[in-house]
Amino acid sequence: MQHPAIAEGKVAVVTGAASGIGLAAAKAFARNGMCVVLADLGGDRLANACAQVAELSAHPDTDIVAIETDVAKLDELEALERAVIQRFGRVHVLMNNAGIQPGSSLFGPQANWDNVLGVNLLGVINGTRTFGPHMIGHGEPALIINTGSKQGITTPPGDPAYNVSKAGVKAFTEALQHELRNTPDCRVTAHLMIPGFVFTALTANGRTEKPEGAWTPEKTVDFMLESIGRGDFYILCPDNEVNRATDEKRILWAAGDIVENRPPLSR
Ligand code: NAI
Repeated sequence: MQHPAIAEGKVAVVTGAASGIGLAAAKAFARNGMCVVLADLGGDRLANACAQVAELSAHPDTDIVAIETDVAKLDELEALERAVIQRFGRVHVLMNNAGIQPGSSLFGPQANWDNVLGVNLLGVINGTRTFGPHMIGHGEPALIINTGSKQGITTPPGDPAYNVSKAGVKAFTEALQHELRNTPDCRVTAHLMIPGFVFTALTANGRTEKPEGAWTPEKTVDFMLESIGRGDFYILCPDNEVNRATDEKRILWAAGDIVENRPPLSR
């Protein structure tokens, strides 16, 4: 079943849309006849991504647009929202997906922590806070999809800034769920996207071939759309066989809500 926000003429805004999961999502929304706003750092990568998405649209000139946006900067997110509302009048899907994983160490450079938390966590919080009131106010069914990570749940050793940023995305999305459930007549739902191991620029590490067991961004987005169609609040992508056993054990231990796929605080 398809969610009513993912339909012809509806409007999707995807951050981090120039590459990987964000680009695959932008393409899927365009294939569904939606207007799509690709928000990412500028340059040729964004222009090329926009051209690829436009090829899938019946109305590429009017419906598909790229807007250069650094999600770590609140004023750029606010400018993005103004531009989108001016052009399309509505937003039905906000996918806060932009992310970086440069690596970190606990007592490493301050700038490293600031960058990771600025993009991965504040980008999600500020994106939601900028677009959310309008999405709630227009009264149509709408979705906010925040891209977290299993690392935000299992917090493996080795990359504390990334883990903290993604744990924050989980906590923020759960706070948002709670807020939306307690807002009268609200038709917006919030979903935590938890990819498995997806072969993208973020994880390539110099590899040109997809490693055994990794998912493609397209498979990941298909899984996401199916999960949302079912009404899942946690979109927990299964991992490859190597990671699965440990992941499932730790996720079971860490988060009953995720395993049950119910919104937090519903009991
Ligand atoms: P990717 O590197 O292919 O795409 C990320 C996009 O975010 C890039 O186009 C990049 O330019 C953009 N971006 C980075 N900083 C930005 C900023 N300040 N403002 C706007 N855009 C910015 O990576 P991928 O894998 O598609 O990642 C998408 C999301 O999925 C990220 O949040 C990542 O943490 C998450 N994720 C990915 C996994 C994987 O296995 N690939 C696993 C778990 C989570």
